[in-house]
Amino acid sequence: MSNEFTKASLLERVNSVKIAEGDERVRALVGRITTDLFKTIDEFQVTPDEFWAACDWLTRLGATGQIGLITAGLGFDRLLDIMMDEADEAAGIAAGTPRAIEGPLFVPGAPQSDYEAQLDDDSTLRGQGKVMVVEGQVTDHEGKPVAHAVIDAWHCNEQGGYSHFFPGMKEHELRRKIVSDANGNYRFRTTIAPGYEIPPVGPTRELFTALGRHGNRPAHIHFHVVKPGHRTLTTQVNIPGDSFIDDDFAFATRDGLILNIEHDVDPAGYASLGITAPCERARFDFHMQKAVAADDTDPRTRMAKALKQ
Ligand code: DHB
Ligand code: FE
Repeated sequence: MSNEFTKASLLERVNSVKIAEGDERVRALVGRITTDLFKTIDEFQVTPDEFWAACDWLTRLGATGQIGLITAGLGFDRLLDIMMDEADEAAGIAAGTPRAIEGPLFVPGAPQSDYEAQLDDDSTLRGQGKVMVVEGQVTDHEGKPVAHAVIDAWHCNEQGGYSHFFPGMKEHELRRKIVSDANGNYRFRTTIAPGYEIPPVGPTRELFTALGRHGNRPAHIHFHVVKPGHRTLTTQVNIPGDSFIDDDFAFATRDGLILNIEHDVDPAGYASLGITAPCERARFDFHMQKAVAADDTDPRTRMAKALKQ
């Protein structure tokens, strides 16, 4: 057998060589991606310098833990949501609170409390930000209250920092689990920063600079809502008025997920949240869906479920 190859015969050999059956799906996907990359490299006459620089970039991307930033910024996270929405539409179960991306910055084990929680503290926005109450009800597909649903809420500080990932923040800062009460009600207070920006240096920033793109997300709060028997909900809400709301680098804004904020709300009734002066307030209800597929009720976050953690 000759071991001289043409581009085409090399690709054919790369995609067909095997000593065992392997995993059929992995073979199909890797075969397709390899074929597409061979084509791209050939069509664009990619040079060895470009190729090895790209490999080094990928190595640094993994080493800095920034792969989840690139997937969001190149639209893959939203693509998966669109595909799940399409599947729901086809199955006739497209209702409830819209799903939204999880993002790469969830951390398990946030402090849990019943009915209400305080996410911010004196360090958030150095006391300068506007205190906001978010309150609402968790309901099921028939609009009935969902008692004892566990709502994980997390967001970043005024520097775009998420605790655990950003130096100097307290453990679980701006992360809480809130358990809805017997009527499905919940509430929390926090202080919202203007938005999030990808790190100023590193592989993600290098790519976005080369693409002539910014790396900003509008201010948002993430949620993961779990109740046995119901479909686990991963979503997020946006703060209206943010200059990046229609220009999210992660393409995650959704029309049904922009908060309606009341200003200068009477603090009466919010003393247990440490609120004694007029604040902002938004009502947001979580409409959970009936579980259909076997893993719909899996309580794990998307990433933990994929990694079987
Ligand atoms: C990224 C950051 C987020 O806060 C988020 O919710 C999603 C993605 C990111 O840096 O890619
Ligand atoms: Fe985020």
